Amino acid sequence: MAGELSASMMCANFLDLQNNLKELQAAEIEYLHFDIMDGQFVPNYTLGPCVMDQIREQTDIPFDIHLMVERPEDKMNFFNIQQGDLVSVHYETTYHLQRLLERIRKMGACPGVAINPATPVTSITEILDDVDFILIMTVNPGFAGQKMIPYSLNKIAKTKWFLLDHGYPNIKIQVDGNVSFENSRHMRDAGADIFVVGSSGLFMKNMTIYNAAMEMRKCISHEYKI
Ligand code: DX5
Ligand code: ZN
Repeated sequence: MAGELSASMMCANFLDLQNNLKELQAAEIEYLHFDIMDGQFVPNYTLGPCVMDQIREQTDIPFDIHLMVERPEDKMNFFNIQQGDLVSVHYETTYHLQRLLERIRKMGACPGVAINPATPVTSITEILDDVDFILIMTVNPGFAGQKMIPYSLNKIAKTKWFLLDHGYPNIKIQVDGNVSFENSRHMRDAGADIFVVGSSGLFMKNMTIYNAAMEMRKCISHEYKI
């Protein structure tokens, strides 16, 4: 499958959002990634339902909602989840993961499980039937502008093998954190499919969003090397 791009909206310029959206649309970005934080599971706050509703009115690009909150089951109804959206919840945040994934599926969205750098991919062996994608955090979640944890590349490759070995070749691997031009090539080699691009690879100081997206596409267009 071809590599896809998900724009990390916490890195957008909110004072120039309409133009940012135009460029994202022109570059045919596949998803808009919303990092939802609660100041508890992760030590930060970012985007919320109001700004998401306003953005929804301006674009048809599906949303990719990354819930970095304790007890996501209690907070999901704040978000206007729509058919075709990606919605990921962290393995570390809920007791009843399977029930929650089923609920996301019933809403018409694509369920995903996110795992922190310290969480082994084998933790989610039993719920593979319930997910369309696995989000591998390649930094500790909470902040943009961090450096990729080096063993992440190995973890992506291990996850790819794990999925093939268990008979799930169609579950996509999403990567989030320091997806730069250089890192994205290696992530793709290792088996990544959806690339969350923020300050390191899309919303950059020295390049337009459109040009960065074109460059990023070149970096992730090849087949996996594993
Ligand atoms: C971490 C965030 C970041 C960010 C991506 O919680 O999800 O991964 O938006 O952007 P950069 O490129 O700054 O890591
Ligand atoms: Zn994210």
